[in-house]
Amino acid sequence: MGFTMARILVTGGAGFIGSNFVYHLLREEPDASVVVLDKLTYAGNLENLQPLRDDPRLQFVRGDIADPDTVRDVIRGCDIVYNFAAESHVDRSIQDAHDVVWTNVRGTQVLLDAVRELAIPRYVQVSTDEVYGSRASGAFTESDALQPSNPYSACKAAGDLLVLAYVRTWKLPALVTRSSNNYGPYQHPEKLIPLHITNAMETKPLPIYGDGSNVRDWLHVEDNCRAIHLVGRQGVEGEIYNIAGHSERSNLWIVERIVELTRCDPRLKRFVQDRPGHDFRYAILDEKVRALGYQPRWSLEEGLKQTVSWYRAHEGWWQRIKGGEFADYYRGQYEGRDAEHSEPGGTE
Ligand code: NAD
Ligand code: TYD
Repeated sequence: MGFTMARILVTGGAGFIGSNFVYHLLREEPDASVVVLDKLTYAGNLENLQPLRDDPRLQFVRGDIADPDTVRDVIRGCDIVYNFAAESHVDRSIQDAHDVVWTNVRGTQVLLDAVRELAIPRYVQVSTDEVYGSRASGAFTESDALQPSNPYSACKAAGDLLVLAYVRTWKLPALVTRSSNNYGPYQHPEKLIPLHITNAMETKPLPIYGDGSNVRDWLHVEDNCRAIHLVGRQGVEGEIYNIAGHSERSNLWIVERIVELTRCDPRLKRFVQDRPGHDFRYAILDEKVRALGYQPRWSLEEGLKQTVSWYRAHEGWWQRIKGGEFADYYRGQYEGRDAEHSEPGGTE
């Protein structure tokens, strides 16, 4: 059912969600060949695809989605493009907005131009609920206005708007997915859940921004991959599809659950200076993707247990990341970041 998927381009396929998506595709589309285009930035990691190295259906191309010649070469002959490539970290985008503008905006434009020029039949832009901005109560639907708060989400919003502009102007056969925060295997340890799991395993402090009351809606990466695949197969061109986790939790709740699951010392928790412009809460409704037949399979409880087990079993993977460029980033981001808050009763 749905569209032809003989040759599939996955940009950003060496990153967290992209690599999970490649595994998903090769399972669910056994007759398809998959081309990964990835620049291998600090976040891209060929180890994520290592178990597939002998699979003849997978081809890897190192390159930049913002380079028109490279993109034209790899996109030719593809039936569908899933664009996962992005600079994905809010904190890094606050430190320096150059790369989010380059990849998330310019890169999207280059892909869209190639899709148009070479008449590629289908394009899926993988986006985020962060484009809607924060809200204290209720939840956003796909027709709500975009109010991004930081350079990352502003550039994702710009990418989404470019896609929708090409749909309107050129009738480009494109769709957009907007998911909530993902977690699961292969997530770079700069993000909350893997940072805290691995710090707990190393008996290092667990930095909590502000008072830990900010809320995120956690979605297991495999559920997101199934939903994104389905949108590519059966979604309506020009439409946007929210993908929610239905698991809203405060950051403090998440950290405390990680403390329990890793059995680390709860005194490792540290309240640190808040992120500037920190969105308080993200929340979306996802009736449209459910109407296509999507149902999540993971509960947060089971997903967190599986994720902790995965990081326990893949210590070499995250030790290599944490020992490289990340060590400098971590020092710059966290060293001397004094607490503004302390937990009632004090844990320090
Ligand atoms: P990630 O940072 O783990 O991976 C991004 C990948 O893109 C890396 O492999 C990197 O090398 C590659 N890349 C970066 N710039 C590139 C460029 N110019 N050309 C080619 N490749 C490039 O990110 P992720 O968490 O897997 O996110 C994937 C997508 O999903 C992004 O578009 C992100 O905005 C979106 N998203 C992520 C989340 C989340 O919670 N992680 C939630 C919603 C949406
Ligand atoms: P993050 O994983 O960076 O995702 P995003 O900012 O895209 O939601 O952060 C998730 C939440 O956790 C966010 O509210 C910021 C917070 N956070 C911490 O409290 N401590 C940390 O060390 C990190 C990385 C994030």
